[in-house]
Amino acid sequence: MESVEPDTTKTVMMNGKSRYYEPAPTDIDVENFRKVLQSRRSVRKFTSKPIPEAVLDDCLDMAMLAPNSSGLQPWTFYVVRSPDKKKQMVKACMSQLAASTAQELIVCVARTDRIDEFARQMLREWPTPTLPTVVKRYYQLIPLSYNPGPLNSFAAVKKSAVALGGLFTAVPRGPFNRQDVKLWATKSTALACENLVLALRAYGFDTCMMEGFDEVRVRKILNLSSAELPIMVIGAGERELDGVFWPQVRFDRELFIRKV
Ligand SMILES: Cc1cc2nc3c(=O)[nH]c(=O)nc-3n(C[C@H](O)[C@H](O)[C@H](O)COP(=O)(O)O)c2cc1C
Repeated sequence: MESVEPDTTKTVMMNGKSRYYEPAPTDIDVENFRKVLQSRRSVRKFTSKPIPEAVLDDCLDMAMLAPNSSGLQPWTFYVVRSPDKKKQMVKACMSQLAASTAQELIVCVARTDRIDEFARQMLREWPTPTLPTVVKRYYQLIPLSYNPGPLNSFAAVKKSAVALGGLFTAVPRGPFNRQDVKLWATKSTALACENLVLALRAYGFDTCMMEGFDEVRVRKILNLSSAELPIMVIGAGERELDGVFWPQVRFDRELFIRKV
């Protein structure tokens, strides 16, 4: 895969200041994009055609292009390859057809244990020659802001302080406690999951996201720590002719969209 690095040599003058400039392509075919979105279905029966390794790797790379909170990429994708682990994983997915017929099983894990490490890495790998002070401060504070402390003790203090400050101005209301931080990691990881399934679709392969799995068993198979939360298992492969079980259902858009 050709990696797409932002070209930090590109700058534009704005109000007398030199600014980073990354032009967006203007030739994207919306209809092809729509075709990918519309043809993505939850496929629960796959053929025996393998997904080429280069395709899967490219799709995983595209998954990791997903937006993610503070750029901290709180995810790990476990591609289950050992036949023994795969067998156990199918069982952990309650032997759903979407798991047992899948060519690949990818366990998508939201992580809360690499926040400090990645905040430091961000400071080391910041992509412009000079590190803006505001960025430096932001990432230096991250270990403090995302740390719930023993028995959520920091969380309680922070919550009270923020509630007080919030009387006077807009303030971020979390994440404070361990549960908040898990939700924080889950949001970004779910976005990467969506990227992954759409990327596979664009290559002509299909997927089924599954949260129908036994978390205790999945944790055991992958030896996950308590800071690693398996949010879904994605079964992937080529769609079998009868791999989509019924037409897609979406309720009236009026139920979901409010222009306020
Ligand atoms: C988080 C999540 C978990 C899901 N878990 C399962 C599952 O365990 N088994 C399954 O067959 N489908 C599962 N699905 C698929 C949904 O049932 C499916 O997305 C929904 O019915 C809409 O159909 P569509 O994906 O074809 O549009 C899951 C989907 C999501 C987003």
